[in-house]
Order: sequence, then C-alpha cells, then structure tokens
Amino acid sequence: MNLIKYVKDEIIVIKERDPAIKKTSEVFLYPSFHAILRHRLAHWFFVRNRYFIARYISQKAARRTGIEIHPGAVIGKGLFIDHGNGVIIGETTIIGDNVTIYQGVTLGGTGKEQGKRHPTIGDNVMISAGAKVLGSFTVGNDSKIGAGSVVLREVPSNSTVVGIPGRIVKRRNQKVHPQDRLDQTHLPDPIRHELCKLTLRLEALEKNEGPLSTIQLNEREKVKCKLCPDNPNLPEENGVPEDMMEENK
Ligand SMILES: CC(C)(COP(=O)(O)OP(=O)(O)OC[C@H]1O[C@@H](n2cnc3c(N)ncnc32)[C@H](O)[C@@H]1OP(=O)(O)O)[C@@H](O)C(=O)NCCC(=O)NCCS
Repeated sequence: MNLIKYVKDEIIVIKERDPAIKKTSEVFLYPSFHAILRHRLAHWFFVRNRYFIARYISQKAARRTGIEIHPGAVIGKGLFIDHGNGVIIGETTIIGDNVTIYQGVTLGGTGKEQGKRHPTIGDNVMISAGAKVLGSFTVGNDSKIGAGSVVLREVPSNSTVVGIPGRIVKRRNQKVHPQDRLDQTHLPDPIRHELCKLTLRLEALEKNEGPLSTIQLNEREKVKCKLCPDNPNLPEENGVPEDMMEENK
C-alpha cells in the first residue's frame, strides 16, 4: 500500500463528502481515516493467514474509532464512514468504490448462512445512519439505503430502500408504488395490509354505507389488494416482475 497516495486520496474523499470539514488537517481527526487505514493493514495480514495480528489491529482500531471492520472484509476505493460510531462490517462483506456509510450501520449476517454471510455493496452506494443490511445479497450500484432501514433482500441498482423490512420506494429517481407491482424486495407487510383493510372500512363509513360485513370486506379487499405486495395472500405470479429479477442476477 502506498501510504502517501492513500492519505492524499482520503483527503479528497473526506473533503468531497463532508460539508462540515473546514481545513484539510481535520482529515486526520476523522475516525473514518484511521479505521480504514488500519483495516488496509489488518486485511494485508488476514490474506496472509496471520489471523491473530489481523484481528488485533482491527480490534484496536474498533476501540479507538467505534468502527469495527473485520479484517477479512474487502473494501474498494473511496469508502467514507461519516461519524463512525457503532459501524460494524462483517468478515465476508465486499464493498465497492465510493461508498458512504453513516454511524450505526451494520453490514452483517442473519445467523442463517454459512460461508459468504455478509452483503456485497456496489459502487456509489449510500447507507444512511442506523441502517442494517443483513445477509449475503447484493446492494446494486448507485443505490441509497434510508436511515434506520433493515434490508434483508437483494437491492437492484439505482434504488432507494427505506423501512423495516427494507422496501424499494424509488428506482432511477422515480417513485415506486406498491400498486405498480414493482416491489423488488417482495416482502409482504401484514401491518400495512391490515391498515389498508381499515381504510376500506372507513371509506364505507364515510360514504354512509354503514359498517361492512366480513363478506363485503373480503370482496373489496380482493379487488383493492390483489396486486399489492403488502398482501400476505398475494399469489406468487404477482410477485417480483421477471425483468427486475433478471437485473439482480
Ligand atoms: C433515503 C434517503 C437517503 C433519501 O433518498 P431519496 O432517494 O432522495 O428518497 P426521498 O427523500 O425522495 O424519499 C422517498 C420516500 O421514502 C421516504 N423516506 C425517506 N427516508 C426514509 C427513512 N429513512 N425511513 C422511512 N421512510 C423514508 C420519504 O418520506 C419518501 O416517501 P413518500 O414517497 O411517501 O413521500 C434519506 O431520506 C435518508 O434516509 N437520509 C439519511 C442520511 C443520513 O443518514 N444522514 C445522517 C447524517 S449525520
């Protein structure tokens, strides 16, 4: 690793992405700077099977910066971890170039997978404060993960994902509505579905139709919710469209 080049690159990255920075010398006070520099060293030892020293460096860095990066993680150029506290990056994580991560982010496993257990993050991805990305799937290039989201499924490129579980709310800067059947995460949300049913009852009351019987409610639900991915009873063929699945491969 060329240390001088690394420092120069870090200065550019931090100045570009943190509007709060006033002087170049402040870069040396950023936890991101120290954590990633130490990770490069720890990873160097890790790939040479020097696991103890690799882990030692990584743990020392974690105590100092609040950013815990497993020495096995593969990290591209231009990663910036803003603020840093509480960031955890798991062993089999792969991070592309120019990724921005905020405090409290976990790139972790679900505990259900063996081997590659942690996510692969594409280029130019932003992972907002407190987001948890859990599992061995890919978050596509140029995507954004909203603050506080819990992402459990593949995210196609150019998407914005928010919520728990994470849902795609925008693709290529266009809003995605459930009724468009574009929910790439394909995770039904029974709570939203129940709220939707409540809305049907309210609408009936507001139109002075009186309280709906169960049969009437079921009929309206069938019509209104038949294409909605929040519907837990949605038939399989109404799930993720073929073309979007292709894009994820
Ligand atoms: C996700 C985020 C990056 C915005 O991305 P975007 O592509 O510009 O998306 P938009 O702002 O247009 O939001 C799209 C929808 O998601 C909703 N949304 C945005 N962020 C959300 C979040 N974190 N949780 C839940 N919903 C969210 C918006 O309200 C909007 O909903 P609507 O379509 O019903 O109006 C941003 O909202 C975010 O979470 N930023 C946090 C950045 C951060 O961590 N800062 C810490 C600095 S210390």
